[in-house]
Amino acid sequence: MSDLAKRLEDKLRTGDAHLGTLGLGYVGLPLSVEFATGGLRVTGFDLSPEKVAAVNRGESYIKDVPSDRLKALVDAKKLDASSDFNRLAECDAVIICVPTPLGKTKDPDLTMVVDAAKAIAERLKPGQLAVVYVGRIAPEKNLPLAVRTFREVQKIRHDARYVWVGDGPSRAALAAENPDFIFAGIQRDANLARHFASADLFVLASVIIERSGKRDVIPNVLAEAMAMRLPVVATSVSGITELVTDGVSGRLVGPNDPAALARVIAELLDDPAQRQRLAAEGAATVARMFDREVNIEELAALFRGAVGAARGAA
Ligand SMILES: NC(=O)c1ccc[n+]([C@@H]2O[C@H](COP(=O)([O-])OP(=O)(O)OC[C@H]3O[C@@H](n4cnc5c(N)ncnc54)[C@H](O)[C@@H]3O)[C@@H](O)[C@H]2O)c1
Repeated sequence: MSDLAKRLEDKLRTGDAHLGTLGLGYVGLPLSVEFATGGLRVTGFDLSPEKVAAVNRGESYIKDVPSDRLKALVDAKKLDASSDFNRLAECDAVIICVPTPLGKTKDPDLTMVVDAAKAIAERLKPGQLAVVYVGRIAPEKNLPLAVRTFREVQKIRHDARYVWVGDGPSRAALAAENPDFIFAGIQRDANLARHFASADLFVLASVIIERSGKRDVIPNVLAEAMAMRLPVVATSVSGITELVTDGVSGRLVGPNDPAALARVIAELLDDPAQRQRLAAEGAATVARMFDREVNIEELAALFRGAVGAARGAA
């Protein structure tokens, strides 16, 4: 069990945990009351200011929850309600109890669950370290190395959390083996940018698959992270060394060396000045290398040269 899970288990056992419930409806309110009755400090969150106000007055709107029981918990400061989602950062654990209405195809519509999860992700405890992975969750991304490296980092920074943005054939197994990881699924445009923005560091541990020779060439996601002014750490394989200059526009380590990767990550975590410097140079590098006008001109010159050579040969 990870340190994080162990610490949470201890706090739940001793009753020191502060629980959040998102959605104070037929499920969320009774659940909040039961946990508060069980001795935990509970804060219920809801978009409806009426429900929040009613709970804080100790007035129940759910038949199964007697108002006198609710009021006793509110007066004892074991239970309160809020629409200020920034208070999620106070919670050690959060239970999502928002509606999942059935869509046209009779499948549950998870929009409100995703919104709720985003609200939580954005309020992870300030100062909590977020390492973000963005990309396909597949074998050629050397996931075991990424996980081993993260666990090494977590020994140094217990508060580190791993947020995985993307999907792929290896996601289910990874989630089953690492219950403390956060899986945000495929994110695009503004949502993707928000996940990049919530990160302190971008790590890409690509390798070359010996059997198939399958490899990342110049992974778009690495250029995207650099363009987003994120300091990057990557393995020095294939085209990555064309994009990242070690110590200048990012940091590079040899493939399949989790200890070295963890060491560099830990070093960067404690060195905001270096992170800023690498992030700035990384963004400038991408702007230079992927300048469309410059690239089009270079390509046209190549073609002109080739056509000229061909005509000369003819
Ligand atoms: N009601 C039941 O008997 C029952 C039984 C089992 C499971 N469930 C499941 O439990 C979940 C909740 O159902 P319910 O019956 O409590 O729904 P509900 O409509 O009674 O309550 C949901 C509450 O969530 C709030 N909410 C919506 N989006 C929110 C957000 N982003 N942040 C915070 N609050 C938000 C709403 O304002 C509402 O007060 C659903 O997934 C449902 O399928 C319900």
